[in-house]
Amino acid sequence: MQAPIEPQDEAHLYDRVAAHIAELIARGTLRPGDRIPSVRRLSRQQGVSVATVLQAYLQLENRGLIEARPQSGHYVRARRISALPEPRAARPSSSASRVSVKSLVAKVYRAAREPHIIPFGAACPSPELLPTDKLNRILSAIARGAGGAGVAYDPPPGLPALRRQIARRSVEWGCALSPDDIVTTVGAMEALHLCLRAVARRGDTVALESPAYYGLLQLIESLGIKVIEIPAHPRTGMDLDTLEEMLERHRIKACLAIPNFNNPLGSAMPDEAKERLVAMLARREVPLIEDDIYGDLYFGDVRPRPAKAFDRKGLVMLCSSFSKTMAPGYRVGWTAPGRFHDEIEQLKFAQSIGGATLPQMAIAEFLENGGHDHHLRALRRRLAAQVARMSEAIAEHFPPGTRVSRPAGGFVLWIELPPGTSALAVHERALEHGISVAPGPIFSAKHRFSNYIRVNCGYPFSDLIEHAVGTLGRICAEAAEA
Ligand SMILES: Cc1ncc(COP(=O)(O)O)c(C=O)c1O
Repeated sequence: MQAPIEPQDEAHLYDRVAAHIAELIARGTLRPGDRIPSVRRLSRQQGVSVATVLQAYLQLENRGLIEARPQSGHYVRARRISALPEPRAARPSSSASRVSVKSLVAKVYRAAREPHIIPFGAACPSPELLPTDKLNRILSAIARGAGGAGVAYDPPPGLPALRRQIARRSVEWGCALSPDDIVTTVGAMEALHLCLRAVARRGDTVALESPAYYGLLQLIESLGIKVIEIPAHPRTGMDLDTLEEMLERHRIKACLAIPNFNNPLGSAMPDEAKERLVAMLARREVPLIEDDIYGDLYFGDVRPRPAKAFDRKGLVMLCSSFSKTMAPGYRVGWTAPGRFHDEIEQLKFAQSIGGATLPQMAIAEFLENGGHDHHLRALRRRLAAQVARMSEAIAEHFPPGTRVSRPAGGFVLWIELPPGTSALAVHERALEHGISVAPGPIFSAKHRFSNYIRVNCGYPFSDLIEHAVGTLGRICAEAAEA
């Protein structure tokens, strides 16, 4: 920090301290999510009293520039999420449709696998935000000491130490699971797969939020299941009135939802809505397959509860993994499938015998002794700041008429481009410039969202990223005029 502030008129001293910090923020020396110096440190550095610094920090808090976090200090607040309006929700569709996204998804992802591509099309945080080194060290220490246990099969329901850790954490989300409620899986994807197979067969119909994570659509397609797409609001998620109407009109075998920080919307379903969703399905004995993979990545003060917290009949099949918070490549996930537990265990055994043993051991150890809570706090702070920066950059560079979501957690943005813009054309043109994006049509069974794209904010904001947003904005403007 620069030269100390000269003590002078006491009454205005704190104004000067506040102005000093405000300037550092305005210049970008201190960025959203950065911790600002502790009260004592600044008081020593600037030769002013602790009370003066406290007064200055209060003023900065009132101006919305910084925020105090209990037991942690003061941080630069994420700037106001962009002033762009939110994307519009989809229109309801009244019929069940077959899904055919797999060839489009394969095309999009084959192209985006190139090294050096700017990965706006992915949905994963940069490895530098994950506890990569620590986890790898834990894994190698375990591998050295595990002997036969590390190379043995781990049959369902999966590693007891890991199930204990998951159960212990579930208390914080209002679920109070027991280790016996849980089956570990190969990522969340296998958990979702097993749950869907347990409750629906080829030719059956399931209800799904729209837009929907394309992985769910691919899974449904691979099982020959049909979907009814239920419109979702970018802030509050699935439209429950439409769902209720569809439950009356169709024989729906299961409902799939991502209530917490939906991919791609970032929406967060309020607790009352989760309760209504669970009750509405329970009245008709329809299972809910809940994907809570983003639940730990909230930007607010408290971890949102999954819909499972409102489950009284064992009909909610909760699925998650450590892919978005720790290590996607370890492929460690799990499900708490309620009354379908035994069937899931059998399906898991038939499908893959068990999960890889060592990665489960490493994740369990990290959860127990690795400083997981500390890691999650830092990750959430970084992601919130990155989402805010990206939203601002989009507001600055994208064509008029663009709309963008305001996620309450997670790290993707859902962008509606001006009407008539082809997201597929944007995707192809962006690849030519070394940038991947996820085009809207892969998020719908009926290839809707032709003028939407999803953008990943999981990588730290940098000049390179800002430049890529500028290029993407130009490509979108050209496509909007084409
Ligand atoms: C909503 C959602 N569910 C599941 C997955 C896949 O998770 P996993 O890597 O644990 O299989 C993803 C990955 O992008 C996702 O976004």
